[in-house]
Amino acid sequence: MQRPVFAANWKMHHGPSDARAFLRSFLAHYARRPDRQVIFFPPAVSLAAVVDGLRERQDIQVGVQNIHWEDKGAYTGETSAGMARDAGADLALVGHSERRHVFGETDEQTAAKVAAAVRAGLVPMLCVGEKLEERERGETESVVLRQLRAGIAKVEPHAVAGMLFAYEPVWAIGTGRNATPDDAAAIHGVIRRELLSILGEKAKAVPILYGGSVNRGNAQALLQAADVGGLLVGGASLDSEGWSTIVRT
Ligand code: 13P
Repeated sequence: MQRPVFAANWKMHHGPSDARAFLRSFLAHYARRPDRQVIFFPPAVSLAAVVDGLRERQDIQVGVQNIHWEDKGAYTGETSAGMARDAGADLALVGHSERRHVFGETDEQTAAKVAAAVRAGLVPMLCVGEKLEERERGETESVVLRQLRAGIAKVEPHAVAGMLFAYEPVWAIGTGRNATPDDAAAIHGVIRRELLSILGEKAKAVPILYGGSVNRGNAQALLQAADVGGLLVGGASLDSEGWSTIVRT
């Protein structure tokens, strides 16, 4: 049994000062636990503050929320995977629904970002998930499989085996309406079967996180669902006490 992964995606919240204050409080509430993997995805400008705030806590990892697919160049406002690695990031979130649906990121760009992360030594966490209208048309499985297959198309299977995945149904993100544990288990099963067909037995160890309106009330039930190996949390990760409660679930 893999240890569960608890990932906080702060989105566009917590600049460096707030991030430092958050970590002082969080670390007081969360003692090192070898049976948990904890990851923070702060905004890029807060990466250094978070890496610094965690220097005594190598048990906790840090990632960036987005990277560019090129290693360098004239891309004003963007951050490369190599720069994020240099700043202390271990992971990169790729293909988050807000990147796809607010910023128009395509499957092709997502695949290129996964490849860029792997080149730079960052572990990609690839997010997939269907919109409400896709769910209502019965397309959940085909959308998730399309995003998954496209997202890993530019990397070798051994790199895929080292990745993390997150199923985040778009209709559940920030809406207060989470998927039921059964809904999550069904789609996580689809993702697991696809990974098994590519990686064989190694796929069993690949964490598949659920995200979308996770809170301290539903975290435990979602974590117990089949094939749910962790939680990717937005709103409920912003308050240090609440987040430490979820992480101790
Ligand atoms: P919420 O937990 O705020 O619904 O956000 C989920 C999410 O998008 C995490 O990446």
